[in-house]
Amino acid sequence: GTISQDELKAQVGRAALAYVAKGEIVGVGTGSTVNKFIDALATIKDQIKGAVSSSVASTERLRALGIPVFDSNEVDELGVYIDGADEIDHHGFMVKGGGAALTREKIVAAQSRRFVCIADASKLVDTLGAFPLPVEVIPMAARRVMRQFEAMGGIAQVREKDGLPLVTDNGQHIVDVTGLRISDPLAFESEVSQWPGVVTVGVFAHQKADVCLLGTPAGVQTMHF
Ligand code: A5P
Repeated sequence: GTISQDELKAQVGRAALAYVAKGEIVGVGTGSTVNKFIDALATIKDQIKGAVSSSVASTERLRALGIPVFDSNEVDELGVYIDGADEIDHHGFMVKGGGAALTREKIVAAQSRRFVCIADASKLVDTLGAFPLPVEVIPMAARRVMRQFEAMGGIAQVREKDGLPLVTDNGQHIVDVTGLRISDPLAFESEVSQWPGVVTVGVFAHQKADVCLLGTPAGVQTMHF
């Protein structure tokens, strides 16, 4: 029979448990794939110390399942960060932020020795940029940042929720940019990150994946970068 995307996500969520060491605090991302990982993590919660979470949504899910959540500042280095992606390429570079959690995701990723990306096969791309690129901005800078992306050939808009600009967990806005072809993710991330008012760009190149567990109809495919 055919395997649903939901089942592919559940498979990689379970597979990620192999990267969690006993007694440790695990870095946990955000999204529908990570939700499957959190459910799997709950089955071994007595064997771990807890989690550092990248969003209010993940924190609530972790706590509801009885997994202690620590603040980033309470913890030094994490062994592993497990998160999904909106796009991942063959170098482990990613676009993230479809769930608006990119800033905290990048912070926890930077705090972790190893980034394990869990994704269904639809996320694997040759070149980043087809998925609208999320950029968290200070609201005051939104218009100028959008003009800068338009000068690069992109089309930018402020993400909305119920007819109003979406407000992130950090009280900021998200600009989504289509029409970019991100051929040099490291340079792109460096450049956009230093535009005034940009909080975080959704290109994860400096915080790339070390491993990707890709859910395919033939099973979980492991990629090392
Ligand atoms: C959240 O801000 C994103 O970075 C997610 O990691 C990404 O959107 C993947 O989400 P899904 O697992 O729901 O596709």
